[in-house]
Amino acid sequence: MCGIVGCVGVEDTWNCLIGGLKLLEYRGYDSAGMAIVDEKGLHVSKSVGMVRNLEINGRRLPAHGSVGIAHTRWATHGGVTEKNAHPHVDAKGEFAVVHNGIVENHMALRTALESEGVDFQTETDTEIIAHLVARFYEGDLVEAVRLSCKELRGTYGILVVSVKEPEKIVAARMGSPLVLGIGGQGHYVFASDVPAMISRTSQVVYLNDGEVVSASPEGYEIFSLDKTPITPKVESLDQKLESIYLGDFEHYMLKEIFDQPIALTNTMRGRVRPEASDVHLGGARLTVDEIRNLRRVIIVACGTSWHAALIGKYLIEEILRIPVEVEYASELRYRNPIVRPGEDLAIFISQSGETADTLAALRELKRKGARTLGICNVVNSTIAREVHSGIYTHAGIEIGVASTKAFTAQVVTLLLLTVHVGRQRDMSSYFADDVIQDMLKVPNLIDHMLAKECLEQIEKIAAEVVDSGVRNFLYLGRGVNFPVALEGALKMKEISYIHAEGYPAAEMKHGPIALIDENMPVVVIAPKDRIYEKVMNNIQELLARKAKIIAVTTDGNTELEDICQHVLYVPSVSDPVMPLLTVVPLQLLAYYTACLKGLSVDKPRNLAKSVTVE
Ligand code: M6R
Repeated sequence: MCGIVGCVGVEDTWNCLIGGLKLLEYRGYDSAGMAIVDEKGLHVSKSVGMVRNLEINGRRLPAHGSVGIAHTRWATHGGVTEKNAHPHVDAKGEFAVVHNGIVENHMALRTALESEGVDFQTETDTEIIAHLVARFYEGDLVEAVRLSCKELRGTYGILVVSVKEPEKIVAARMGSPLVLGIGGQGHYVFASDVPAMISRTSQVVYLNDGEVVSASPEGYEIFSLDKTPITPKVESLDQKLESIYLGDFEHYMLKEIFDQPIALTNTMRGRVRPEASDVHLGGARLTVDEIRNLRRVIIVACGTSWHAALIGKYLIEEILRIPVEVEYASELRYRNPIVRPGEDLAIFISQSGETADTLAALRELKRKGARTLGICNVVNSTIAREVHSGIYTHAGIEIGVASTKAFTAQVVTLLLLTVHVGRQRDMSSYFADDVIQDMLKVPNLIDHMLAKECLEQIEKIAAEVVDSGVRNFLYLGRGVNFPVALEGALKMKEISYIHAEGYPAAEMKHGPIALIDENMPVVVIAPKDRIYEKVMNNIQELLARKAKIIAVTTDGNTELEDICQHVLYVPSVSDPVMPLLTVVPLQLLAYYTACLKGLSVDKPRNLAKSVTVE
């Protein structure tokens, strides 16, 4: 969950580290720190809070220096204090380490080191690594890091620098992402994610688990933990620098809501073939036999991606008539899931492609013989690399912790997959045409939904919510819009800290209706679809109990205006495509509520963008 960055041979070490950290801050933001080595030694600075605090406090560090490493933290072991912030150093202050991951055997290692007389300064698991490297150092930093890694159990992406070899960074990876960026003239940048390096280089090596890398201005080398040299696979980044700039937007979340039209166009680009009433998904690599023999789909994900998975269930069961099970990765991994090789397709949805629970579930289902398919946004992420085949969502870099464009891109990808599989089973060209035509319209429709007057209307509703001091929200939907209700509620919770529950509208009478009174705002997703009449019954039940209803319905359906407090309109499209539109006002409602409450929209408390710990 933490972000790490390091640089070798660059002229502006300090700037490179601070700039990189700012772009990684979505990974964790409770504290930050950096270490720079120059001819005078090892200099360390740490601050609690956002990277901007480090930017102020870390000014005293040398601007240049031969190498530097930095870290932005999401605390796991040890409270949020300056001491516990990374980098961690050994007792003599000769070695410094930043670490992303968790050392699971830290207690045993700590006890062993303490019995050798090591005096620990922090409560973190990472400090162990600094002491281990110091203990193993006999004139070769790579060897000391390699031997230290052999002692560790758990996950790590680490960067190590030392006054003993002041021109060098040694990095190692096991279960936590780490990328080496290759600049010109002996410049190298390491980072946990590519946004931190795209202003410096477009040539990268994605490190694999069990690899150790040494980089200095003379070059770089990669070894396995048993010292076997590894030939690097250098790849080009296709991400554009503009994608990480806010431009005129105040927050990444709003920018990413506005990115949706282009993001979804990119998800569909080169895949939709209207002339053939078909969808081409090269990366899915599903053979005709595999598709025809498919008896069950299992979709595994967490958080917002899990909501997309639930929409996938509606699509695949309704349209393809294939049974689908949707699983929380964190639950599945500790059960004993039943897998039928040759009949089951296991789909793993993850924006980051690094979520620890999803990755563990993938490994478990793969071990049991499932055919696996990934739907990831981050290219070359661990999940994307470990699945048998995959479909990238191509939504572009998502920085706001609250996922928006990644969600709609996941839903589009599931629609594409449904048509792709359906056309090789018994889906008619007429049906495929309808879905394809509606999907193709969506970017334009979202664009119109983001018009100034629509935003103003939602901002006004958010102002009422904030002024009335609302502490609870209910979100209701049915059918394919039930997962949208869950997603709307999650957005509201995570960025505005208002308790919100998503529920199937008809299920309300089995419990949550007890909560309803004139103070309870209820968002009801009620497009004029085939279950509209049923949702209307639920609205009546709410009205009878004086609920304040914010309805989301389709253009032209004015009858709700007389009975609901507010009505938000979305264009009319076919049922399978509808979630792509109904979710947009809910994203905006959460966004404006958080803004008006003066909260940290892009970096909500206690959260991090990708959850790489259990
Ligand atoms: O990267 P992933 O899609 O695997 O992440 C899953 C969840 O952690 C993520 O969707 C989380 O719920 C978001 N903060 C939601 O906005």
